[in-house]
Amino acid sequence: MVDNKLINIKSLKSPKGVFLLGHLPQFNTYNKHQVLERWVEESGELFKIHFLGKEFIVSANPDFNNKMLRLRPDTFKRFSKIDEVLKEMGIDGVFNAEGSVWKRQRKPIAEALSVKNVKAFYPIILDKTKAILEKFKNYSEKETIVDVQKEFMAFTIDITTEIAFGYKLDTINNKSNSFQKHLEVIFPMINTRVTAPLPIWRYFKSKKDRILDDSLRSIEKVIYEFIDDAKKRIEKNPSLKTKPSNFLEALLVENEAVNFTNEEIYGNVFTMLLAGEDTTSNSLSWAVFYLAQYPEIVNKVREEANIVYKTEKVSSTYEHVELLKYAYAVAQETMRLKPTTPQLYLEPNEDVVINNVAIPKGTSIILQNKVAQTQEDHFSNANSFIPERWLDHGCPMHKNHSPNVMRAFGGGARYCPGMQLAKTEMIVLISALCKHFDFKLEVKPEDIREQFEFTMYPENLKVTFKSLKTTK
Ligand code: HEM
Repeated sequence: MVDNKLINIKSLKSPKGVFLLGHLPQFNTYNKHQVLERWVEESGELFKIHFLGKEFIVSANPDFNNKMLRLRPDTFKRFSKIDEVLKEMGIDGVFNAEGSVWKRQRKPIAEALSVKNVKAFYPIILDKTKAILEKFKNYSEKETIVDVQKEFMAFTIDITTEIAFGYKLDTINNKSNSFQKHLEVIFPMINTRVTAPLPIWRYFKSKKDRILDDSLRSIEKVIYEFIDDAKKRIEKNPSLKTKPSNFLEALLVENEAVNFTNEEIYGNVFTMLLAGEDTTSNSLSWAVFYLAQYPEIVNKVREEANIVYKTEKVSSTYEHVELLKYAYAVAQETMRLKPTTPQLYLEPNEDVVINNVAIPKGTSIILQNKVAQTQEDHFSNANSFIPERWLDHGCPMHKNHSPNVMRAFGGGARYCPGMQLAKTEMIVLISALCKHFDFKLEVKPEDIREQFEFTMYPENLKVTFKSLKTTK
């Protein structure tokens, strides 16, 4: 009886495609996520598409997506193509690991990025925030137009390398910027290769493929410096074996007992760098995109900063960060409207039925999570930037408020382990920037486009910062 009600994925609707090529020509663009959004409008929350005959299911239904995310790691895994592409680049870490390997790798990562550790390493975030404020003050004096995306990437690289690997880089002050340049090459190439219908690069290397190889070699050299450095620290100070002071030391120590392979250690250091850099810097850039358009919101963040940490330059304690509710609301509202990972890619390990839809083992499923975050059913005035909706007392104007559809950090057992670190970085920097500067967009908002390259960022975002002291 129940079987009669089952929906076969073959019967799902499909947006208009092209003969033989299917939906590939439309998807082969800089804004894949927005193409998916348009298709949701055309074909509803659950539909199918195909690229040269290879079928994909797309779901923008938050309940359906949450169920799939929660059924990991046993019933669902990430696209096997992601694993294939990452491994080919030598990246064999927790993001693409599955099953028992994933469980073993996830534990030290989750511990390294726990709230306890974010609190313990707060002085590093503080130092880096002060460094970037100093740099922006300089920009303000020289009236420099700032490419904020690049600046925030330096900020996040420096923090991740110091917190997770105990290695001090000074990318903010351009001391390690070639490393940043090499990292920048990776995500766009993962994006290109994961969605490529054929692995042409295995037979013919384009200029971009050769640049990638060069960047991978340079990154490898730097990562082995992190690893050698940590090994020396452990050798010098054997107490680190029982009490490692960061993620890399924990992996190296576990290596003795649990036997992490060298490839796993290397792959996870690379994964942390990749996962922690663009995602956080993109989100910060989107926050500035909004702040530069709404000076009244900047004023509210500034007022809160003046009340919480008064004459201090930056929120000097983690306890103060917890009081920066309005800066937090700005971060949340930014990630609701501009999630840097608008879609996730999964496939079932076995035949499975979700909400009466029969999904065969190995089906490729794209979870479009952004659509629900900008739907009126879930958030009143859904397309407006209103941080107030995230405050405890809410906003009487906004009767619809469904925080549970927010998937900016994913969901289930594989939700982002760096969430706490990322939120802390965002709150502290948003608050400090608003405390010290007025912002001005140097391009029209409509000329700043959403660019998707595995993560989604504001292309062409150019901003000037006016230091409040220099305005006096
Ligand atoms: C605003 C910033 C960030 C956003 C929006 C973000 C978003 C995400 C998302 C959507 C996932 C996939 C989750 C899933 O499959 O359910 C993820 C996974 C992951 N993130 Fe983040 N992330 C951010 C910052 C960070 C930081 C700072 C780190 C570490 C330094 C980090 C480390 C990771 C790792 C290791 C994974 C893989 C987890 C696994 O597969 O078990 N992320 N992140």
